[in-house]
Amino acid sequence: MDFKTYYDNQRKLVEQFLKQRIAKKGISRVDEAMEYSLMAGGKRLRPILLMATAETLGKKGYNFLPVACGLEMIHTYSLIHDDLPCMDNDDYRRGRLTNHKVYGEAMALLAGDALLTLAFEVMLEQRNVKPEALIETVREMAMCAGNFGMVGGQVLDLEAENKQITAEELRKLHAGKTGALFIAAIRGGAHLAGASDQELRCLTKFADLLGLAFQITDDILDVTSTTEELGKPVGSDEKNHKSTYVSLYGLEAAKALAEKTCEEAMQCLEPFGDNAWALREITKLMCKRRS
Ligand code: IPE
Ligand code: IPE
Ligand code: MG
Ligand code: MG
Ligand code: MG
Repeated sequence: MDFKTYYDNQRKLVEQFLKQRIAKKGISRVDEAMEYSLMAGGKRLRPILLMATAETLGKKGYNFLPVACGLEMIHTYSLIHDDLPCMDNDDYRRGRLTNHKVYGEAMALLAGDALLTLAFEVMLEQRNVKPEALIETVREMAMCAGNFGMVGGQVLDLEAENKQITAEELRKLHAGKTGALFIAAIRGGAHLAGASDQELRCLTKFADLLGLAFQITDDILDVTSTTEELGKPVGSDEKNHKSTYVSLYGLEAAKALAEKTCEEAMQCLEPFGDNAWALREITKLMCKRRS
């Protein structure tokens, strides 16, 4: 199978699962706001990474759709909150108006909260894995999403506005706000597939580097892409005086760093040979992406 077909198939599986799971309604109209952002498209990268990691270890990725899609809910909540006026104050996301532009700030806040909690309900609907593996996966998801991970990184991101920070501080910021959910995806897939300690070590390093390369590329695209291509505003980082790889190193050096980081990520996959085909192709795609 060629990679494009593979990725399209995986994306369809994720879309179908999310659609069917979000169809279950709660007691208020927050459901509509949740569905609006969750079903707006997006690359579905984190769930696809989780499944591809399980496949690298010889398991069927689609067996882990509940955990994979739970993670996509966490990611979508983080985007809704990231776009709020008190955060990045952006008007477009995934090619449509941001959640708060359509539903208002209070509803966007609550839609994010509800997606975060629904994520854990959905992840715990996962069957056919050892309970210990599921517990460890979900515990790590929580840790990666919270103050030790994504939320912690978002705080560093806000504190770094209008400031010159060091390369080390920027690395830590990116590892938190973006790297942590990549680690959650890849370690999640690894735990569910019964990875050995050695495999987990290699895959964790891979996840950290891929997350970094991904966010450096996001910083680059914020200055080189177009709103049409990205589905979100360009120039958001400059508007908010953010500390990014482009602001710290300049565009060309940021591009070189992204490329080097991608190569380093690739090297982490060597021990897995041909089994890491999908992870390798995803890494290549992420490093040359335009959206
Ligand atoms: C956007 O993530 C937020 C970052 C961490 C840069 P994605 O680029 O994966 O967004 P979607 O899911 O495709 O919309
Ligand atoms: C956001 O980083 C990361 C999270 C949402 C956690 P950015 O603020 O750079 O993401 P975009 O560019 O708005 O997607
Ligand atoms: Mg942000
Ligand atoms: Mg943003
Ligand atoms: Mg960005």
